[in-house]
Order: sequence, then C-alpha cells, then structure tokens
Amino acid sequence: MKPILLTGIRATGLPHIGNYYGSIKPLLRMQEEYRIFQLIADLHAVPHVRDGALLNDHVRSITACYLSCGLDVQQSVLWRQSQIQEMAWVSLILMSLISVNELDAEMKLIANQDIDMLSGIYPVLMAADTLMMGADLVFAGRDHETGLDFVSQLSQRFNSMYGNIFTVPSPYFPDLNQMVRGLDGRKMSKSFNNTISLLDSEDDLYQKIVRIKGADEAESLRIIADLRALTDAHPSDNVANLKEAKQLLFEELNRELKPIRQKYAEWIGQPDALDRILQDGAAAAREQANKRISLLMNNVGL
Ligand code: ADP
Ligand code: NA
Repeated sequence: MKPILLTGIRATGLPHIGNYYGSIKPLLRMQEEYRIFQLIADLHAVPHVRDGALLNDHVRSITACYLSCGLDVQQSVLWRQSQIQEMAWVSLILMSLISVNELDAEMKLIANQDIDMLSGIYPVLMAADTLMMGADLVFAGRDHETGLDFVSQLSQRFNSMYGNIFTVPSPYFPDLNQMVRGLDGRKMSKSFNNTISLLDSEDDLYQKIVRIKGADEAESLRIIADLRALTDAHPSDNVANLKEAKQLLFEELNRELKPIRQKYAEWIGQPDALDRILQDGAAAAREQANKRISLLMNNVGL
C-alpha cells in the first residue's frame, strides 16, 4: 500500500504559477510513490466567494486545471471538501480540544478581529480533512508550516484522549528555495493582485511579464531570474538587459504553459465529465473517511 499524502487548494479562482511551481507540479511528481488525496477546499472559499454559481465554477476550473497539469485520477483522488459533510462534525469535536489562546497563537485572531470566524478556524478544518482521510503526510508550501504542525499536534492530542483513531500525519514541503514571487516581487498571491495565472492567454502572459517591476533594475532582473529558474528550461545564461530577460522568460514560461492551456480548453468544455470525476473522487474519499467516522463518534460518545 502506498502512503497517503493529502493536500488542498482553496476554490477561490484559477491557480496561479505560484500554486503551480510551489504545489501542483511538485505534487504530481509524487503520484507514483504516494496515493495523493487532492482536496478542493470549497468550504474554505465561502467567505471569499459570496456567489454560489461562481463558487461552483471555481471548483470546475480547478478540477480542469489539475487534470490538465497531469493529475491521474486512476491513482489519485480529487474531491470537493463539502462532499464529506461529517468534516463539519469532526471540526467541531476538534475545536473542543483547542483553547482560544492556542488558536490565537496560530491565527493572530486578537490582532485581526475583523476576520470571519470560518477563516479564523482554518487550521481546524485542515486538521479535520487530513485526519479523516488517514493521511500519512500532509503537503503544502512553507507558508503553511505552522498550520501543518498544528494538525500533527491536534491528532496526537485527540488520540491520547480517545484512543488511536487518527494517523498522526507528518508535514511534507516541496523542495523550493523560496515562495514564488509575483509581478511586484512580493509573494505571488491573489490577495496582492500580482499573479500570473496558469491559464493566462499568450497575450496576457506577455503583458504581465512586461509589468514585472522590483525596487530597482537589479531587483527586477532577480525576480525574472528566479522565475526563469522554475521553468523546465533551467536557463543559466546571462542576459544583456531587462527587455531581453523578459522576452526569454515569456518564451520559456509560454512553452511550458501552452500545452496545459490547450488541455484546459478541452476539459472545461466537458462539465459533465468534470462532475463525474469529482463524484468518483468523493466516493473514494468517503470510503476513506468511513474507516474512522463511526469509531470516532462512538469513542467521543455521540
Ligand atoms: P491555500 O488556501 O491552500 O493556501 P492557495 O491557493 O493559497 O490555497 O495555495 C495552494 C497551494 O499553493 C499551497 O500549498 C501554497 O503553499 C502554495 N502556494 C501559494 N502561493 C505560493 C507561492 N507564491 N509560491 C509557492 N507556493 C505557493
Ligand atoms: Na496560501
């Protein structure tokens, strides 16, 4: 039996190349060695996407993205979080084991009192999903480092109180020197509006690369060199100037993203096929969750 590796992506929109190089690509390299459980976190997206139809669209686009990048649903499981509704039960039970102080240390809630409460318990939901699936490893970028430790600690705490129901998962981080940087040099993130989408058209890709701008020219060149180093081209050549560097980055990125873009166009035109894949994924996830849920409820006394 392959070890189980779980990871998630929020259904807040199309993945960007930070998600791709920081998470999707390293994950897909591990498909032979691990049984991958790739979660589409639709519940996590609710506070950010206040439109049901749009949220459903995001789930489909992300599904199409993973398939286009090479997720093999014959061996990996792709499902949407909300399909296993017991996750909400498990989250509530886990919350009984966490003090407000501990959650604050994790989420800085006292300092950010305007955060909605669902976002505030983010690591609890992450723990519930991970533990229900019996994951041996939980995979995410370094930006989730403390969250993953929290999941491991919570499972140990639960187990010592209620019997060894949960596998204690180990954190697993992709081998990446730093977070992928965006057009302004900060971490690439949808909240900074500095992303290059995995599916940007050739024109948009070019226009965005033209916009890359650090504090000075040397910094701009460094941002571009870092991005170029991520692509399959693995360039080591010196460039004459910023303009040439941008042109090379465009060519190298475009070469790698073009086939993904083409496959995506095919998948997104087949919504029924996407829904079927998600249903099959949910069935596999449910089978996995069922191994634990009744024992868990019974031991807790519910
Ligand atoms: P999540 O809510 O799971 O963080 P995101 O869409 O923000 O959802 O990220 C999905 C995955 O992509 C996570 O594993 C995260 O660590 C990774 N990721 C996000 N942004 C970057 C980045 N700029 N560089 C590298 N990895 C990233
Ligand atoms: Na993130």
